[in-house]
Amino acid sequence: MIAERPPMGWNSWNTFGNAISGQLVCQIADVMVEQGYQEAGYEYVVIDDCWALKERDENGYLVPDPEKFPDGMKAVADYVHSKGLKFGLYSCAGILTCAGYPSSYDHEFQDAKQFAEWGVDYLKYDFCNFPKNADCINRYHIMSMALKASGREVLFAACNWGVQDSWNWMKSIGVHMYRSTGDIFDNYKSFISIYQSQLEHLSQSGPYCYNDLDMLTVGMYNRGNVAIGKCCTDGEYRLQFSLWCLAGVPLIIGADIRDINPQMKELLLNKDLIAIDQDPECRPPFLVSKRSVMVEEEDKENAVEPLRRVSDKLYTFIKHLANNEFVIAYINLFEEEREINCIFADAGLPYSSGYGFEMKDIFTGEKLGVKKDYHLVSVPGHDCRLYRCKLVKCDEYRK
Ligand code: GLA
Repeated sequence: MIAERPPMGWNSWNTFGNAISGQLVCQIADVMVEQGYQEAGYEYVVIDDCWALKERDENGYLVPDPEKFPDGMKAVADYVHSKGLKFGLYSCAGILTCAGYPSSYDHEFQDAKQFAEWGVDYLKYDFCNFPKNADCINRYHIMSMALKASGREVLFAACNWGVQDSWNWMKSIGVHMYRSTGDIFDNYKSFISIYQSQLEHLSQSGPYCYNDLDMLTVGMYNRGNVAIGKCCTDGEYRLQFSLWCLAGVPLIIGADIRDINPQMKELLLNKDLIAIDQDPECRPPFLVSKRSVMVEEEDKENAVEPLRRVSDKLYTFIKHLANNEFVIAYINLFEEEREINCIFADAGLPYSSGYGFEMKDIFTGEKLGVKKDYHLVSVPGHDCRLYRCKLVKCDEYRK
């Protein structure tokens, strides 16, 4: 069975864009095995756009660019498989891919068969250059069927950026994960707005079909293909990875793991965070409370009065895990350090229950003992604190 848990892996797009090759993919596979990524659960090595020649061959087949993939695609897949990893490739539901290469519209069954013959285990399926008169849901369904008819078990990673409220229908047409927003860029605002836009859809994400919040930018520091604006601080990268794990969504690394600093490697391999992402019950986080502020934004185009809008800044989440365990997470989107609390009664645990949470800080390992009633913590700006909690009976239960 595939996608029983959120898929984990690496994808070439965020760092390399067009600058991909068979050699690069094999080097990434080596690093995944040698440096603990495979052991931590990362499994798929995925080639994104720009792998093909600009024309199909005379029989209508896609052709891997011989300069980038001199030994063809099957050789690359075979190498990845020889390492005990799985191999992913990219195509698109439109006439051309986003970078202008031939795409699978009206070639779905032919391409799926070809991918299966090469040994593809994962297909990312994009949405650029999609004909105006074509039916988006139907075309994704056709590729889903084509993969099922291909003779190989292939994870179908749809990427239509949320068009036609994808969270409502992707699961029913056999998709295993679906990109629900536009592209991530390597800055704080980008990943926060992706997260906020999908919070209310996370209850529809779960085993066999996950909402995909896009490839991580953790550890990129603006190197590569998606650098727009100020790159993230280490705290912001920690926030990004924690938010993805809390949501229980696919963890697809976008950084060049051949050359990543030790702190970011440690973050991507953090067992406690990965365990939250991969929890067997795959439950979405529950929003215990949030604090919002009104912010003013200038309408530069019309030069009218500043616009006022609500901006959510502090979040407290609880996520139910297997075996009566929980995570309580505090998220601070202010620039400055702020105190955030969790009133346990708002998380299903009033004082009168006689129960409390035994709490452990996921980042420092510090054991806080048993807390009753509430917990308050100071969180640095653009950062988070996560606590693994057990439900325990309190000794000094007061009537
Ligand atoms: C789109 C997708 C990206 C990436 C590029 C490739 O923008 O959303 O994730 O695959 O296309 O061209």
